[in-house]
Formats: sequence, C-alpha cells, structure tokens
Amino acid sequence: MPRQTSGVIAAAKGAPVTLEPIVVPDPGTGEVVVRVQACGVCHTDLHYREGAINDEFPFLLGHEAAGVVAEVGDAVDNVAPGDYVILAWRAPCGTCRSCRAGRPWYCFDSRNAAQPMTLADGTPLSAALGIGAFCEYTLVHAGQAVKVDPAARPEAAGLLGCGVMAGWGAAVNTAGVRRGDTVAVFGCGGVGDAAIAGATMAGARTVIAVDVDARKLEWARGFGATHTIDARETDPVDAIRALTDGFGVDVAIEAVGRPETYTQAFHARDHAGTLVLVGVPDPSMRVDLRLLDVFGRGGALKSSWYGDCLPSRDFPMLVDAYLTGRLDLDRFVSETITIDDVEAGFAKMQAGDVLRSVVVLP
Ligand SMILES: NC(=O)c1ccc[n+]([C@@H]2O[C@H](COP(=O)([O-])OP(=O)(O)OC[C@H]3O[C@@H](n4cnc5c(N)ncnc54)[C@H](O)[C@@H]3O)[C@@H](O)[C@H]2O)c1
Ligand SMILES: [Zn+2]
Ligand SMILES: [Zn+2]
Repeated sequence: MPRQTSGVIAAAKGAPVTLEPIVVPDPGTGEVVVRVQACGVCHTDLHYREGAINDEFPFLLGHEAAGVVAEVGDAVDNVAPGDYVILAWRAPCGTCRSCRAGRPWYCFDSRNAAQPMTLADGTPLSAALGIGAFCEYTLVHAGQAVKVDPAARPEAAGLLGCGVMAGWGAAVNTAGVRRGDTVAVFGCGGVGDAAIAGATMAGARTVIAVDVDARKLEWARGFGATHTIDARETDPVDAIRALTDGFGVDVAIEAVGRPETYTQAFHARDHAGTLVLVGVPDPSMRVDLRLLDVFGRGGALKSSWYGDCLPSRDFPMLVDAYLTGRLDLDRFVSETITIDDVEAGFAKMQAGDVLRSVVVLP
C-alpha cells in the first residue's frame, strides 16, 4: 500500500516552505522505502527553494538523512528491512563512461528511484538531490541506501549524507591534502568545517579558517583550524600570505559559492597550489581572473561534487571514525527541530546562528 505521509514542500520560487500531505509509492524493482529518523537542513535545500538549482517546482526538500529500511522492492540485495542506512545522492550506475573508466565518483547516470513521490492530488514531486527526506518515509534507489553501524545516532550520521561528506571529501578526496600541507578554507558553515576536519585528519600542518562571522570562526577552531581570519576586518589573501611565509597555501577550499571568495581563494594559493570549489554558485555569477594568472600560478583548479565520495566506501568509514572519536559529528549538530520548523531553520542558517539544524522524526 502506498504510504500517506507529509513532507516539506517548496511550491514556488522564494515562497516559504510548507508541510503538505504526500504519497510515497510502494518500492518498485531496485527501489527501497526508508523510514527517515533525522535529516539535516543544508544550504542546498535553500538554493532549491530560491529557484537557484532549477525551476522544477514543487520540490520535496531534505537530503541529509539517516533512517531504517522499511520495505524493499524486487532485485534489491544490498539492504533488507530493518537495516540502518544513510541516504546518498550518488549511487554509481557501474556502466557509464566514468564508471567503466574506474571513476565512479564522476558517474553520469547516478541512480534514483524511478517512481516519483507525489502530492495528495497526484502532482509529481521533484525530490531534492534525488532524495527528498523531510518526511517520515521516502522512496530511493537501493543504491542510495548505504548500510552503516547503527550505533551512530541518526542526527549525526545523517550529516554524512551531504554537507559533512562534501566538505570532508573536498579536502581529502578532491584536493588530496597531504601530511604537512598548508590549507585555507573560505566559509565555515557545515561544509567548510567538515573540510577543516578532513584536512586535519589528513595531516595538514596549518589549517586557516576564513569567514565573516566571528562565531563561525570560533566553531572552526573546534574542528581543527589552527588560525582564523575575519574577512570583514582583514584582507584574507594578505593574511594567509602572512601566515605562510609570504607564499600562500598549498590548498585553498572555497565553501561559500561566491565569485569574491573564489577569487580570494585563487590568489591565496602558493604557486602550483590546488583550488577546490565546493560552494555552489547561482547561475548569474561570473568570475573575472587574469588568464595570465591562471597560467602563471599553475596548479589545479577543481570543483568538488559531493566531495568526490564513494558513499559505499566513505560512509561506513566515516561512521567508524565518528564512533571511535576521530570525527566529531556531534559538533555539527547545533540543534534538533521538528519537521514543521524547516523554514525557521533556513532563517537561522542565513543569520549564521547554526551549523546544522537537524529535523528529528518521531
Ligand atoms: N559541492 C557539493 O557537493 C556541496 C554539497 C553540499 C553543500 N554545498 C554548498 O556548500 C556551500 C556551503 O554550505 P553550508 O551548508 O556550509 O552553508 P552555510 O550557509 O552554513 O555556510 C556558509 C558560510 O560562508 C560564510 N560566508 C559568507 N560570505 C562570506 C565571505 N564573503 N567570506 C567568507 N565567508 C563567508 C558564512 O558566514 C557561513 O559561515 C553552499 O553553497 C552549499 O550549497 C556544496
Ligand atoms: Zn556511472
Ligand atoms: Zn546538502
């Protein structure tokens, strides 16, 4: 029987989200229904509400979730009812040109449920990042449900499903931070702080946090930042040079998604340094760089989609790191909220009051 439940819907560009009745179909071949236990409020949900991702409204928001498999369709062999899972927005197909070339983290045909969830009147919903988890039950492709150790509480584990994985992976997988590297992270929200935690775990010698909010900089220290720069008070490029013998950093990570911070990160690198863009810009944004600087400074300019992660490899590994005290996921959870409080969660995120508000479902 299709499940009747309610979900957080963005109905139109810029309109406040509302909790609406939705219908979750029975799982078809290769699909699973997951009972969501917790789901973080990510900036990307707000990008959807603002129409900055695409205009396929209505959206069912929420994509940073952990829960328990409730029901599986035919031909599902990786999970069974009762399994504790984190939902992934990447489920490599195994057969596209990237997967066949051994780079499944660039999969071009990542799997999602074939059937849409709908509003009560049958209107199909666009599920945020192919998940849609601000709801009691959600339908995903089985490959999106990654089994992890149930000892990890869902409020913390779910954050690996997006922001923490994206930031940690930007540092470790995309930038490939090495022991002894100097690293600067622009933007210390959940994603930037996860990049700081990743760089620290990878053995970076210096990790410089840059933000425009003093509270964020204070929190960044808790994740391993060795230095902090308030970009409202100091030019961050000059300050980063001053902290690195005048050279700049080996790795600069942009976790805001704005041209000015991207440009700063570009110039804050040492020669042949790596720049990683993990922040998501909106379609109107452009950067103006001197082409000779792009050439002359050398190095690598990379984008990081989901931290170049392989969920089936990285989620269980990071859950183990959490359970053994090597990755402090609890520190990302600023507050837990109910499902009817997502709009207030957006406001707190925009005001800089939280790293993550996490919706907990009964
Ligand atoms: N690439 C991916 O796969 C991926 C995944 C998840 C999220 N994201 C993106 O990462 C970005 C960060 O997400 P988040 O959840 O941490 O958001 P957030 O809003 O919590 O954090 C953004 C931070 O940037 C800071 N900031 C704003 N302007 C700044 C400036 N001029 N200089 C320095 N810092 C500045 C803010 O104070 C804030 O601390 C968003 O664009 C989000 O969409 C990307
Ligand atoms: Zn593929
Ligand atoms: Zn996200």
